[in-house]
Amino acid sequence: MSMNPEEIRLREAMAEHGRLLFARGFSVGSAGNISARLPDGFLMTPTNSCLGRLDPARISKLDPQYRHVGGDKPSKEVFMHRAMLDARPEAGAVVHLHSTHATAIACIAAPGEEAPIPPLTPYFVMRVGRSLPVIRYYRPGNPEMEPAIAAAVRAGARAVLLANHGPVVSGKSLDDAVYAAEELEEAARLALMLHGRAARVLTPAEVDDLLETFG
Ligand code: 13P
Repeated sequence: MSMNPEEIRLREAMAEHGRLLFARGFSVGSAGNISARLPDGFLMTPTNSCLGRLDPARISKLDPQYRHVGGDKPSKEVFMHRAMLDARPEAGAVVHLHSTHATAIACIAAPGEEAPIPPLTPYFVMRVGRSLPVIRYYRPGNPEMEPAIAAAVRAGARAVLLANHGPVVSGKSLDDAVYAAEELEEAARLALMLHGRAARVLTPAEVDDLLETFG
C-alpha cells in the first residue's frame, strides 16, 4: 500500500497521542477512539483497541464515504465521528474519551443542557468554546446518536458530552482535538473540585474577549 507522508505522520501521531492519553489515565482498557481527516478519507482507531498500544500500520483507513478500506476493523463509533467531521468541515480530528471527570459531569448534567461546565479557565474556553451540549444517552455504537450530535455541532458546538458515556471533542488538527479533550477533562475536574464553593467564573465579556482573540 503506497502511503503519502502526511498519512504516515498522522498514523504515528495518533499512536503517540493514544499512548500519552492512556499513560495518564484519560483512557482505560479499550475505551475511547480517535479519528483524523485525510485528503482521501479518514483514519480511525480500530474497534476494541487499547489507545495505549496502537500500531500505526493497523489503524483503520476509511474512504471519503466512511467505508472501511484498510487496516483493522474501525471503531463502532464511526457514526459519532462522522457526525462531527461532516457537521464541522474545519475539524481535522475528533477524540472520544471516557475520561473520569468529564464522564462524571455527563452523569450529572441534564440532556439538553448547553453549558454543564462553567467557564472557569481561559484554556477551557479557548479550546472547547462557549457551549458543551449534553446529548441524551445512546448505547455505544448506536447510529441514532449521529443526527443528535450533528445538530449540536451545526448549532456551533465544537464538543459535546454524551450522557452517562463521555465527551466527543473536535479540533482543527489532531493536536488541537487532543488538547481540547485534555482541557475539557481538566475543566470537569475543577468544576467537581469547586462544586459548592464560591468560585469566580469568567464573565461573558471575558469569554467574548478570549474567543475573539484566539478564535
Ligand atoms: P471502540 O472500541 O469500538 O472504538 O469503542 C470504544 C468506545 O469508546 C465506545 O464508546
